[in-house]
Amino acid sequence: MLKELVRTCRSYRRFCEDHAIDEETLRELVNLARLAASGHNAQPLKYLLSWEREKNSLIFPHLTWAGYLKDWSGPSEGERPSAYIIVLGDTEIRKSFTFDQGIAAQNILLGAREKGLGGCILAAINRDKLRVALQVPERFEILFVLALGKPQEKVVLEVLEPDGDVRYWRDEEGVHHVPKRTLDEIIIG
Ligand SMILES: Cc1cc2nc3c(=O)[nH]c(=O)nc-3n(C[C@H](O)[C@H](O)[C@H](O)COP(=O)(O)O)c2cc1C
Repeated sequence: MLKELVRTCRSYRRFCEDHAIDEETLRELVNLARLAASGHNAQPLKYLLSWEREKNSLIFPHLTWAGYLKDWSGPSEGERPSAYIIVLGDTEIRKSFTFDQGIAAQNILLGAREKGLGGCILAAINRDKLRVALQVPERFEILFVLALGKPQEKVVLEVLEPDGDVRYWRDEEGVHHVPKRTLDEIIIG
């Protein structure tokens, strides 16, 4: 079960935008992050939720999608995320959030996968503009955005040879291919 969940827990960037995700679902996902490991058990992460079209539209313009796909500028109308979780660091609790946010993000994405949803971590974001759009107080560092929705694209894993290219690609059928290093390459001893 876990193996399959992890295998299909890919970065999805095209969704059925009409598939609504409600506040309760987002709260359940954040609850998985709440239970994650935290350095010093300080638990400095806070979350902003968005599940309504109007608020979603304030977030979308400040995201950068799939940097390696030079001829694709991101999901078009109808295939955009139906919800977002914005992961924030509360600087009044800690000044550095190293590692906590990665664990939190993976818990959320695995939980989303279990619900038949999918998502993408977006760190290439215009933080200043997003802060203004959502009126995020200065106290919170914007770490990244998790885009969520019902995936409307096929993503497959490929074997990455040691001298191969790490860049993902999309084929003529629109299938997204993600190269991954082999187990033998990454276990060095
Ligand atoms: C810290 C981090 C930041 C990322 N930022 C972005 C981003 O800004 N935009 C985007 O389209 N994908 C982003 N991604 C997704 C990666 O491109 C993706 O994880 C990678 O291509 C491998 O695909 P996979 O997640 O399906 O294994 C990010 C992933 C991580 C872990």
